[in-house]
Amino acid sequence: MSQQVRAVVARSKGAPVSLETIVVPDPGPGEALVRIEACGVCHTDLHYRDGGISDDFPFLLGHEAAGVVEAVGDGVTDVAPGDFVVLNWRAVCGQCRACRRGRPWYCFNTHNARQKMTLADGTELSPALGIGAFAEKTLVAAGQCTKVDPAVSPAVAGLLGCGVMAGIGAALNTGGVGRGDSVAVIGCGGVGAAAVLGSNLAGAARVIAVDIDDRKLETARGLGATHTVNSKETDAVAAVRELTGGFGADVVIEAVGRPETYRQAFYARDLAGTVVLVGVPTPEMKLELPLLDVFGRGGALKSSWYGDCLPSRDFPMLIDLHLQGRLDLDAFVTETIALDEVEKAFERMHHGDVLRSVVLL
Ligand SMILES: NC(=O)c1ccc[n+]([C@@H]2O[C@H](COP(=O)([O-])OP(=O)(O)OC[C@H]3O[C@@H](n4cnc5c(N)ncnc54)[C@H](O)[C@@H]3O)[C@@H](O)[C@H]2O)c1
Ligand SMILES: [Zn+2]
Ligand SMILES: [Zn+2]
Repeated sequence: MSQQVRAVVARSKGAPVSLETIVVPDPGPGEALVRIEACGVCHTDLHYRDGGISDDFPFLLGHEAAGVVEAVGDGVTDVAPGDFVVLNWRAVCGQCRACRRGRPWYCFNTHNARQKMTLADGTELSPALGIGAFAEKTLVAAGQCTKVDPAVSPAVAGLLGCGVMAGIGAALNTGGVGRGDSVAVIGCGGVGAAAVLGSNLAGAARVIAVDIDDRKLETARGLGATHTVNSKETDAVAAVRELTGGFGADVVIEAVGRPETYRQAFYARDLAGTVVLVGVPTPEMKLELPLLDVFGRGGALKSSWYGDCLPSRDFPMLIDLHLQGRLDLDAFVTETIALDEVEKAFERMHHGDVLRSVVLL
């Protein structure tokens, strides 16, 4: 058995996405069918559309989603039909070498649905990050469903499924930002703005937001940035150093994913500080740094996949903080749109007009 639903598909490299009818199988063992209520538009979806992630077209885009479980397959015990869930792309296996060492947030063998969703003609789809949620319904591994308090709005909840979690986690988990630290965040789109919020939550004394767009800097200020730097007008490294007693920040979070911004992050960091790369580069990008500086400046150069989050631990906790009024996640939803407006949302993202456009279904 299967169902036909509407969904947003990227058929070929760089071409505009299209609204298509896709075929979604009934859940098999360990799988869950989820009726999507909201799905945010992340820069990673645009990377997929442009062939920057892989060549496995056609892609079923969308991966920052929340919805309601409609049906589950055999052996699924953690979620049941009717549960309100955030979808995650880290369904930990419990068996790989990372899981066995007690570090499930690095799980090297995460689960996705085994059965394939297809186009009406049977062509197999590649769901973005194993999710594919610009769709009325999607099929995932049950472990990709994290049950959360249904009192939260679906638009806000869905954002925790990727960008907002990646940003908050880059600060809290990967960067280990703590009380009194100085932090600089380079690139304050959805992910970087969330890193600002996360740094604020952790009690950072100074949170310096860097972007080339004043609108993003203004939003970052609203989320707790103590200082802002427009790096189109001002040298980012010099500005961060000046704002940190001439030394640089304890933690610098790079949320753009380009060699030039990584280099800024590297030099805007204090001796023995930490750089966290959460922005996703494209395959042709190369980084050149004096090896002596890599050695001599000490500290840690880390990358952050999904904010090193553990969905079952982090999603419910962050949603609780939000519902208590202690974590402003509403600020991330710039606009809500319909399923056929994703291409327009890419355009607006490209022009920097939004933090997040969220598709409501
Ligand atoms: N590591 C992860 O798990 C993860 C998860 C989600 C997204 N991402 C990646 O994070 C990055 C940001 O995603 P997003 O959704 O926030 O994108 P976005 O388009 O909303 O934000 C990008 C921001 O970077 C700014 N920017 C661009 N060039 C800049 C420069 N030279 N200097 C300073 N700022 C600059 C833009 O003005 C914009 O505010 C993307 O590469 C995305 O693929 C990573
Ligand atoms: Zn594992
Ligand atoms: Zn994403």
